[in-house]
Amino acid sequence: ATNRTFTMIKPDAVQDGHTGAILADIEKGGFRIVALKKVLLTPERAGKFYEVHKERPFYNDLVKYMSSGPIVAAILEQDNAVTAFRELIGATNPAQAAEGTIRKKYAKSIEANAVHGSDSDENAEIEGSFFFGADERF
Ligand code: CMP
Repeated sequence: ATNRTFTMIKPDAVQDGHTGAILADIEKGGFRIVALKKVLLTPERAGKFYEVHKERPFYNDLVKYMSSGPIVAAILEQDNAVTAFRELIGATNPAQAAEGTIRKKYAKSIEANAVHGSDSDENAEIEGSFFFGADERF
């Protein structure tokens, strides 16, 4: 599945009413929405999703933040999806995100950075499967 990536619209962006605008940017960016859902992560589930960051100093705050309100999860499709999506969203730190990127437009901080994007094809598949079964992908 080299043509797919996974994203979450993070709690503050959902809470602030940016879900529709961000999904529109994603579709305008040439992505097809393969799967989509709004869900509240428990701290346990958020912790599991970000388990690779368990030893990082920001892990506990990140888990608290990601379970503070509903997120919108999606699987997206386009050629070179992982790379293309990372270009569309911009740098993790919004202070470094390029003009016109989703994070430049909607991120508030390095933690509340509006959206997640998978960093590899392998993680895209793992992260997509964390939220979606085969009967939820079209
Ligand atoms: P994301 O791309 O979802 O992956 C890990 C998340 O940790 C990141 O976005 C941010 O929301 C959060 N985070 C908080 N502080 C940092 C940091 N210093 N470096 C990287 N990620 C951070």
